[in-house]
Amino acid sequence: MGGQEKDPREEVIQAWYMDDSDEDQRLPHHKEPKEFVSIDTLAELGVLSWRLDADNYETDEELKKIREDRGYSYMDFCEVCPEKLPNYEEKIKNFFEEHLHTDEEIRYAVAGSGYFDVRDRNEKWIRVWLKKGGMIVLPAGIYHRFTLDTDNYIKAMRLFIGDPIWTPYNRPHDHLPARKEYLKAFLGNGVGDRAVDTAT
Ligand code: LAC
Ligand code: NI
Repeated sequence: MGGQEKDPREEVIQAWYMDDSDEDQRLPHHKEPKEFVSIDTLAELGVLSWRLDADNYETDEELKKIREDRGYSYMDFCEVCPEKLPNYEEKIKNFFEEHLHTDEEIRYAVAGSGYFDVRDRNEKWIRVWLKKGGMIVLPAGIYHRFTLDTDNYIKAMRLFIGDPIWTPYNRPHDHLPARKEYLKAFLGNGVGDRAVDTAT
């Protein structure tokens, strides 16, 4: 057949630009026509991704190596459903508030699926659909939010370097060093996203 090999990660991690409708956050919110975003484009924003064997995470050598290489000493699970997550409704609401963290947000879907929305360099929302077997790292300082999809369930492994800090800083928190470092490292300046816009 020829043509390019499909990146196996694309079966468990898909990304696209969102429409502007304020319908149910758990719907896909594709643009019309659909506008997909590649895994390479995500990487340019600092969003890293892997495809792993979610049925065997306890013995997975690839996961073990990632944890060693990146120093992810801490690990736990977060199951997002009314029975397992205390203060479910409030948490669901807070997860979808645009925020950043001063450290990486590392999530590995071992069951279920969900949407991690990240801002691109022009402030547009990219919806990242993480499904079973997909692992992503959102870099420190990136503005993002999370919602379940219409299947309404995810069990995510959470990794962290050292003692976990889950504090969300709701937008705007542009003065935080983590934000400034993110802009410098991935958006190519220390000023702000819009300065990049006007230069292009
Ligand atoms: C978090 C995700 C929901 O901060 O963004 O845990
Ligand atoms: Ni977050």
